[in-house]
Amino acid sequence: MKYRTLGRTGYSISEIGFGAWGIGKQLWVGAEDSESLKALHRAIDQGLNFIDTALAYGGGHSEALVGQVLRDREERVFVATKIPPRNQRWPASGSLEEVFPRRHIIQSTETSLRNLGVETLDLLQLHVWSPSWIQDDQWFETLSQLKEEGKIAHFGISVNDHQPRTAEELVQSGRIDTIQVIYNVFEQAPEDRLFPLCREKGVGVIARVPFDEGALTGSITPETKFPRKDWRNFYFQGDRREQVREHVQELGALLDGETRTLPELALKFCLHTPAVSAVIPGMRSVNHVEVNLAVSDQDPLSGEIIGKLRGHRWDKNFYEKP
Ligand SMILES: NC(=O)c1ccc[n+]([C@@H]2O[C@H](COP(=O)([O-])OP(=O)(O)OC[C@H]3O[C@@H](n4cnc5c(N)ncnc54)[C@H](OP(=O)(O)O)[C@@H]3O)[C@@H](O)[C@H]2O)c1
Repeated sequence: MKYRTLGRTGYSISEIGFGAWGIGKQLWVGAEDSESLKALHRAIDQGLNFIDTALAYGGGHSEALVGQVLRDREERVFVATKIPPRNQRWPASGSLEEVFPRRHIIQSTETSLRNLGVETLDLLQLHVWSPSWIQDDQWFETLSQLKEEGKIAHFGISVNDHQPRTAEELVQSGRIDTIQVIYNVFEQAPEDRLFPLCREKGVGVIARVPFDEGALTGSITPETKFPRKDWRNFYFQGDRREQVREHVQELGALLDGETRTLPELALKFCLHTPAVSAVIPGMRSVNHVEVNLAVSDQDPLSGEIIGKLRGHRWDKNFYEKP
């Protein structure tokens, strides 16, 4: 496993981290806690030391599982969690008072501390961000106060889906330590302006959704069925699985002796960018942990393959209704 610095937090984190949304179970149907715990332990065995979770993932269930693992391990594992929007609306919508009032920030922090069983949160992220809030100091003052009290060590934001431009002014302001943003073979827009800005400002970048919710693993076909109530019935609704197959089929031609599978290609694409501190694939099984973490030990993609992947940008937003 290779390690990179998470911007000005100074944390040396594994370049492949653990995306812990799925193990929260609420929207991802089919996770088993026993397997999720084994997957987390296996990841740490293989050198992973960065986990991304959120209070919203299963109403604290993901955090609780992560906390259980932290108690059982002696290794230093950095955990990033998130404050949910009080009005439960993704992407960000509403005034700052409706979404992140001071009392809500403090209460969520206390709940996450309890769920994780730690005295200080390594990194606390606002789970949504609207550029209109930059004029309002309340969120910043509340988080700064929590930092002074030792309840959080660093804070940042999770950028709204496919809206990297909405984080630019905040990164420029120097007020946050990290951003988390969708970045993958299809969604390359953060490279245009946001990543150079983050490098300039020393802001750590966490690349989320590297597989486009599974599309870039090659396992989504028009025949794919998801469990009832699994949120991917929404994401891959209508003819979207057909569209995915068309886009992914073309990527198969880029595999070779060194990069043999689509998940490897997808992760290596995210890692080719120096601005990225860690990529956080969602994983709920030991098997996925083992194959994904092995990618860090492989050779990076050649400039030629990266050049070809540039042609696979795909401007879409499946988080919205068609
Ligand atoms: N707004 C936000 O802040 C936000 C939103 C979305 C995600 N996130 C964070 O980003 C993380 C990653 O995103 P994500 O989990 O939504 O999506 P993702 O990482 O793009 O894809 C996850 C999917 O890929 C599958 N997978 C993983 N490794 C695989 C492999 N080697 N071969 C085949 N399939 C594989 C997973 O299966 P299994 O689950 O069965 O292992 C799961 O179905 C989340 O867990 C969360 O921490 C944050």
